[in-house]
Amino acid sequence: MTPAASSLFLQTLTGRKAAIPPVWLMRQAGRYLPEYREIRATAPDFLKFCYTPKLAVEATMQPIRRFGFDAAILFCDILVVPDALGQRVWFEATGGPKLTPMREASEFAKLKDAIDLNHLAPVFEAVQLLRGKLGDTPLIGFCGAPWTIACYMVGGSGSADHAAARGFAYRDPAGFAGLIERVTQASIAYLSAQIRAGVQAVQIFDSWAGILPTREFDRWCAAPMAKIAAALQAAHPDIPVIAFPRGAAHNLAQFAHMPGVSAVGLDTTADLAWSAQTLQGAKALQGNLDPLALIAGGAALDSQAEHIMQTLGGGPYIFNLGHGILPETPIAHVEQMLKRIRKPS
Ligand code: CP3
Repeated sequence: MTPAASSLFLQTLTGRKAAIPPVWLMRQAGRYLPEYREIRATAPDFLKFCYTPKLAVEATMQPIRRFGFDAAILFCDILVVPDALGQRVWFEATGGPKLTPMREASEFAKLKDAIDLNHLAPVFEAVQLLRGKLGDTPLIGFCGAPWTIACYMVGGSGSADHAAARGFAYRDPAGFAGLIERVTQASIAYLSAQIRAGVQAVQIFDSWAGILPTREFDRWCAAPMAKIAAALQAAHPDIPVIAFPRGAAHNLAQFAHMPGVSAVGLDTTADLAWSAQTLQGAKALQGNLDPLALIAGGAALDSQAEHIMQTLGGGPYIFNLGHGILPETPIAHVEQMLKRIRKPS
């Protein structure tokens, strides 16, 4: 059997329901792991860390070795796309990512017309190396969705509401559409290159999908996501796409029949019973344990995990968090969670 055919995770993405759900965690490689903090201390520049294949491979492998998750996710960051479009991107020790903000459409002229895939060659090298190391464990590639990337490109940093990008989109919709289209094409090229290098599924993170009114959501989140999924389906029909529009609430209904999307990632606040009824069957579902419940541990963690398994267990689903794992998460609670999910029923 090929690794793809034997993987519970990839089978679930084709719509098969598993007796015990496959599990991986968003941000499973990262600061809650002492072994990650150790190698991270050797490379203070975070982007350089991402562009050093040996380090990216090691960070990707760490959670697989420790926990035996059912899928690995490439260690990288969504902001390598603006970096490879020629915008200045850097990470500060406190306060997260920083970019030279682009508050006017005239500034886009400074960007490259197309993404520089040569600049990202170390990422594809890491993918190739990982495929040699992972054996039967599938490798997930990823990118940020155009709306989320545009939030950072326009605003220049993290933000609670990304007011700069939202304001830009109302003030200059044609200019903003130009940026979204450029990032959409960059994302298609970037994900295609990850697939050529060996990733077996991709996830598109739309972390800021939840801050838009429905009409804006349709235009800036759903339409570009649909365009990327359709392009990948045409070029790489065997590679499943997981869409993760965080905070989309009832706008998730649009994903029920989106061509090229195999699974929908549910965030912490998603209505599970509604999602099972509206989305599941046509799509596999993924999610949605609250990262804070994982930190709390004990009976709260067991009860939340059980509830998710019961509500989504009638169809194909992948156990995950509703957002990235937090640095203060105790390792023992991840072990407790895995035991609960994998207990023989
Ligand atoms: O999931 C994984 O294990 C793969 C690696 C991964 C990272 N970032 C590594 C990372 C993935 C999939 C991402 C996605 C990402 N990056 C998103 C989308 C998902 C989400 O969380 O909403 C976003 C919005 C980013 C942008 C980004 N990168 C932010 C906001 C930060 C700072 C976060 C913080 O808590 O300070 C980063 C840095 C980052 N990306 C770290 C890691 C492990 C921490 C950097 C460090 O080690 O110092």
